Amino acid sequence: MSLSPAFLDELRARTSLSALIGKTTKLQKAGREMRGCCPFHNEKTPSFYVNDDKGFYHCFGCSAHGDAIRWMTDQRGLPFMDAVKELAQTAGMELPAMDRQSAAKAERAKGLHEAMTDAATWFTEQLNGLAGTEARALLDRRGISAETARTFDMGFAPDSRGKLKTALKDYGDPMLVESGMLIQVEGKEPYDRFRGRLMIPIRDARGRTIAFGGRILDQGEPKYLNSPDTPLFDKGRTLYNLDRAAPAARKADRVLVVEGYMDVIALAQAGIGEAVAPLGTALTEHQLERLWRISDVPILCFDGDAAGQKAALRAAHRALPMLAPGRSLSFVTLPQGQDPDDLVKAGGAAAMEKLLAEPQPLVDRLWQAELAAEPLDTPEQRAGLKRRLGELAAGIADASVRSEYQSDFRRRCDTHFTPQRKPFVPFQRGKQPWRPGPAITSGPVTSEAKAVRDSGIDPVLAKAVLAGLIRHPAEIARHMEVLGSLRLADGALGRLFEAVVDLALEDKRKANALDSAHLVTILARSGFGEVATDLLRADAMPYTFTQRLGDEARAREDLDEAIAILIARPEVDAQLAQATQAMQTRFTDEAFERQVALVKEKQALEMRLANLCQSNEDARSLGSEGN
Ligand code: UTP
Ligand code: MN
Repeated sequence: MSLSPAFLDELRARTSLSALIGKTTKLQKAGREMRGCCPFHNEKTPSFYVNDDKGFYHCFGCSAHGDAIRWMTDQRGLPFMDAVKELAQTAGMELPAMDRQSAAKAERAKGLHEAMTDAATWFTEQLNGLAGTEARALLDRRGISAETARTFDMGFAPDSRGKLKTALKDYGDPMLVESGMLIQVEGKEPYDRFRGRLMIPIRDARGRTIAFGGRILDQGEPKYLNSPDTPLFDKGRTLYNLDRAAPAARKADRVLVVEGYMDVIALAQAGIGEAVAPLGTALTEHQLERLWRISDVPILCFDGDAAGQKAALRAAHRALPMLAPGRSLSFVTLPQGQDPDDLVKAGGAAAMEKLLAEPQPLVDRLWQAELAAEPLDTPEQRAGLKRRLGELAAGIADASVRSEYQSDFRRRCDTHFTPQRKPFVPFQRGKQPWRPGPAITSGPVTSEAKAVRDSGIDPVLAKAVLAGLIRHPAEIARHMEVLGSLRLADGALGRLFEAVVDLALEDKRKANALDSAHLVTILARSGFGEVATDLLRADAMPYTFTQRLGDEARAREDLDEAIAILIARPEVDAQLAQATQAMQTRFTDEAFERQVALVKEKQALEMRLANLCQSNEDARSLGSEGN
């Protein structure tokens, strides 16, 4: 059944996303959005936002993103139709009845599916029967066990133009032609497409046979003959073995992409079940999307020959626009002249695992390819390299990944072309632990700023929060506990901070409402007048809570958020430093994952801080519109 876009829009509009998500995930109001801890990844500080107006959720930590339907498919794990049905029921909407045309189409597809299943069964019978002697010998020579052949439903198409046609005659020629099993040439009788070949059924994600690949038994052209595209089979949208590899991949926590059917089958026989293969074509965007649904970083295991390496690079380029935080590709290059099938035959699963232990990250692969593409002896040639790298990075749609690539490439160029230093060694698991880049500092470092920084607290944000507290003294009481635990460094800022907190404490005892002007007066008496006034003058600070006028409720909300970020940051930084050190001491997958998770958390905090500035921008533009 096909659902019209209008129906789906209506369904989304009638669904309260925050209520839907709120059923299983605790959400709190944050400005115009709702916020909570992300249900798609593990986190302690909430970076998951739900926007009812737009009907979208988004996680700044793991980039999970979608609408109500997506929530049902991704979080609840429902198939699309079931998701729609359940939402429609809640929204009190009737599902549109299947129209006659799509009903007929569905009926025909059902027939095609049955024809394919019957064909597969018939091919299997041929393989196991008298006709299959030669094909069984081939399997034997290739080391494919009878059990593996059964698992993959392998079969044999006899060398005849009409045997399959006769076996499946009940379906009628037109349907068999449509299914790709018969070839129809103008004015001639349709005849069997696959003749004298070892047959490998190709299944869709739901495990239904939708096409075949047929390998010639001896020498001959083409080595593999594949089904043409049919109503059931779209080469660019299918990955061989996806139906079995997906569950295996979730268990193994990785998915491999290899070049051929036989590689997939040999790997599975060796115990590596999480491999898929494209069908003799370059990886498409659609196939990449499918892979990313299974694993954040699919591993492409292509042959070491020129064709394999070209295919790998092509996939790398195609993936660039689709990258997202945490989402990438990695690469394993097979030894020259060996494909995974040859490799496991020679060295078992262990030989493959050895290669898989050190996949090359996408960024390294791109860098390596560009470095090798042209000579780099002249300034012009080196500028050319920088330009090519810049163009690659510019092709990345996600802003945060793009800027990471830009600075990464820049760093590599700087290091590579500085003669006294060692050339850049790309990161490799177990060999060269990841190191954070140099800390980014802005502005001159005063001794005070330095002291604050050593305490792990962001001095700029601390100053803004202090200004916010002086502007909104009533907020101090609410945050007393966390503020008390924030040991700011010595120096004027620290003393002022303590004075402000003390005053607020005192005032609370007196049960007075402390207002900003009053607070400044008292501070002035204690000799803090100048610093405090200076803080309040700081128009330069881009937050709603440091401005004099504005939406009071929003300013308070933003101040809450700023304090949360201020406190969370040193914690994340400290943990990240620890994780990085742990990894430098001894590389383990666990340490590596922990580090990656912390980097993500740090990014999420940056994003939240950026949102605060955005909130101020919004408030200001609203204000000027009103004038
Ligand atoms: P390869 O030529 O690398 O074959 O093709 P292979 O997997 O090593 O096969 P064996 O080991 O000789 O049996 C890799 C893939 O490219 C597609 C097929 O999908 C194959 O699995 N291909 C290859 C074709 O579609 N047609 C061909 O003629 C050859
Ligand atoms: Mn091979």
